[in-house]
Amino acid sequence: MKLIQLPKIEDPRGNLSFFENNQQIPFEIKRTYWIYDVPGGDTRGGHAFKEQHEFIVALSGSFEVVVNDGKQEQTFFLNRSYHGLYIPNKMWRQMKNFSTNSLALVASSTNFDSMDYIRDFQEFINLNK
Ligand code: TYD
Repeated sequence: MKLIQLPKIEDPRGNLSFFENNQQIPFEIKRTYWIYDVPGGDTRGGHAFKEQHEFIVALSGSFEVVVNDGKQEQTFFLNRSYHGLYIPNKMWRQMKNFSTNSLALVASSTNFDSMDYIRDFQEFINLNK
């Protein structure tokens, strides 16, 4: 996993940032979704993906992303719309401590597939052995 600094085009009319397939992020985007209206302080995620890679940006507000590779856990605090967190497949991840009115954008390398989820932490640990 990796925190990636995105381009920031500063402008008195308002700043602009972007990311493109295989440029700022190391995969081709198949799907984009966003998480919003999360009650302040709440938690989402709590699973791993067998194949899906993802890239998460706090477009607004802030939250923490806790990532576990099966051996160690790292917490990333996202609160800038020009920072993104790249998470490869086979990582357990949780998103928590959302600030009120925060907006999490997630770009994914796959279409939605419920079979790609690993929702049991012990199963994740066993698969990663
Ligand atoms: P899920 O990824 O399980 O969210 P969380 O891990 O935060 O609980 O998604 C919640 C629900 O939304 C689940 O029923 C699947 C559905 N969903 C889609 O239909 N398409 C998508 O692209 C995503 C991300 C979720």
